[in-house]
Amino acid sequence: STILVLHGPNLNMLGTREPEVYGHETLADIDDRLRQQASEQGHHLLHLQSNAEYELIDRIHEARTEGVDFIIINPAAFTHTSVALRDALLASGIPFIEVHLSNVHAREPFRHHSYFSDIAQGVICGLGSQGYDLALQAALQKIH
Ligand code: DQA
Repeated sequence: STILVLHGPNLNMLGTREPEVYGHETLADIDDRLRQQASEQGHHLLHLQSNAEYELIDRIHEARTEGVDFIIINPAAFTHTSVALRDALLASGIPFIEVHLSNVHAREPFRHHSYFSDIAQGVICGLGSQGYDLALQAALQKIH
């Protein structure tokens, strides 16, 4: 099966961006590890990071026609703003897990609301990049 991992705005800065909040790993480190884990279990992992809302939306539309089975998404700041991205996920009908590196509930009040959590299969936050590994494990188990 095929898993799509989507990363929202500013996550291309991982490694140097507020490392005390987001850790020292780069996005490439995380994506490489996930791809390897998926392929070891006989699955295909695709990924995209974008700072542009429409690129993430277009990618979700494509995912539907491509037959992507599951999405793992860290919408980053779009978590708290994007009805459009929420609607794209609903339109795709593809199940997804929402991941955040930081514990958004321990941060500013504007980070406490997500446009995704109520329609997600699950939500993982505050565990750093391990959250993606756990999401992948859960996604693969759900697909089977
Ligand atoms: C984030 C949390 C968001 O509030 C923030 O805007 C991000 C990253 C996280 O992974 O902790 O860019 O999604």
